[in-house]
Amino acid sequence: MTSIVDEIKKTAPWHDRHLLGLENLSAQQITTILDLADKFGAIAEGRSKKLDLLSGTVVANLFFENSTRTKTSFNIAARRLGADTVDFSASSSSLSKGETFIDTALTIEAMGVDLVVCRHQTPGAPHLLARHLRAGVLNAGDGTHEHPTQGLLDILTIRQKLGRIEGLTVAMVGDIRHSRVARSNIHGLTKLGAKVIVCGPATLIPRTISQLGVEIAYNLDEILPRVDCVNLLRVQFERQRGAFFPSIAEYAHLFGMNRERIKRAKDDLLVLAPGPINRGVELTPDVADGPHSAILNQVSNGLLVRMACLYLLARKAGN
Ligand code: CP
Repeated sequence: MTSIVDEIKKTAPWHDRHLLGLENLSAQQITTILDLADKFGAIAEGRSKKLDLLSGTVVANLFFENSTRTKTSFNIAARRLGADTVDFSASSSSLSKGETFIDTALTIEAMGVDLVVCRHQTPGAPHLLARHLRAGVLNAGDGTHEHPTQGLLDILTIRQKLGRIEGLTVAMVGDIRHSRVARSNIHGLTKLGAKVIVCGPATLIPRTISQLGVEIAYNLDEILPRVDCVNLLRVQFERQRGAFFPSIAEYAHLFGMNRERIKRAKDDLLVLAPGPINRGVELTPDVADGPHSAILNQVSNGLLVRMACLYLLARKAGN
């Protein structure tokens, strides 16, 4: 384990103060994060999980929107690196007394915080923080814009399971219109040389998405035989105003991954879902729990990717 820790310490300095999206990262930077995450994974398989790489660093989790996976894994990731963590919950904070978003963040930063992890329902909220704070800011999902660590953990899972990214065909299926996960995956996967197909009801695919270099498809059964990985996006009813398709049953019939579709796909099709999953909507329980599914690997990789990102940004911040 010592030699892996030494290797980690030799990682080249990171030049960005914040991690706000995959749109502005180079293929080399993305690969650096993935390689570092794999190294943290090798350590996690050993006996000792706790490291003291970030002792003295304080990481604040500022979540203005609900989360299970992202918030918990940023928390565990920071502690595994030896950092201290501060959890903030919008619903029990002084926001209810009229304190602004920026004043809230400045107040928490003034308690000696080095890194701020921010989830917010408004696209661009972490970018706004980055302009006001001295601390490094990590975007944990901003509205429908980006969710960079989710994109990274999805790509890491594909690389681990299929051995490469370049030359693969990945289908992002479902609610593309409201999905920050789709955008981060598209930026990361295309930079690393994968072909991305976005597939779903026409009402849930904005035409402008083709500007990101993806193919658009409306029929899952037509594209499935040539796809190496499907990433099944949740229908984000909480971000929708109005009905985008006639019924959930029809959506599941046309775009849900089920046993019959698995039979018609490549033998080694990889099934991903960022979660939370709606069993029976974007995939059936037998697919979610079946041999093609890497959903829980994604969750485990989320921890490793977040350790890598926190480590790189903390070193940039001088910790
Ligand atoms: N995938 C994801 O971001 O899940 P949470 O909303 O539970 O963090």
